[in-house]
Amino acid sequence: MIVVLFGPPGSGKGTQAAGVAAHLGVPHIATGDMLRAEVERGSALGREAAPIMEAGQLISDDLIIRVMGSRLAEPDAAAGALLDGFPRTVAQAEALDALLRSRGRAVDEVFLLQVPDDVLLERVLKRAAEEGRADDTAATFGRRLAAYRDETEPVLGHYRRERVPVVTVDGVGTVEGVAERIHAALPRPHQLGQAS
Ligand code: AP5
Ligand code: MG
Repeated sequence: MIVVLFGPPGSGKGTQAAGVAAHLGVPHIATGDMLRAEVERGSALGREAAPIMEAGQLISDDLIIRVMGSRLAEPDAAAGALLDGFPRTVAQAEALDALLRSRGRAVDEVFLLQVPDDVLLERVLKRAAEEGRADDTAATFGRRLAAYRDETEPVLGHYRRERVPVVTVDGVGTVEGVAERIHAALPRPHQLGQAS
């Protein structure tokens, strides 16, 4: 089962991911978390990614596709994955399709978390105060949102063209309320074996 959690910065992808991944019995794979871990470790990848992330821009497709290719080849992803923050460009979506196709699989479902821009900004600024994530300033948030509109939103059109179900979920309200809405639209366990 390959499910994509999709949405603008601050829409709640990371917050909702653990529950959805547990329900599906697959790992939660978040490119942003992976990149932040590399920055923390001071690896070559982390040193390359840090200034780009701090500027609110996207890491190159080649680099992130390589990182995800090796992550999805790990044994825990054999049964599938819940993807958060990937794919983020049409080129990434096409590369993911090709990778999955070579294994006889495909993306099963996409969840789009819908949250108005002013609520997104409010959430990100609150997290800045609580956690100090380097890219959670108002200016950088604006650039992340612009990158989402220009480069990431077109991925939805790609999935619609490919006839992958795209489910829009209202992402405003309590964390539990949003989780309930996602769970209501998740495939039931008895359907998982039939999904292709
Ligand atoms: P990434 O880490 O993916 O960041 P993002 O997409 O900008 O999104 P966030 O993680 O900020 O938001 P989220 O939707 O996960 O929301 P969250 O649950 O945290 O990417 C960071 C950077 O890495 C990119 O800018 C890019 O440079 C690089 N990158 C990553 N992937 C890449 C790729 N594929 N290609 C190229 N570059 C890539 O929630 C936000 C806050 O709101 C939290 O504080 C949370 O507690 C709160 N919250 C959540 N839900 C609710 C609710 N219902 N009510 C109130 N508060 C809530
Ligand atoms: Mg996140």
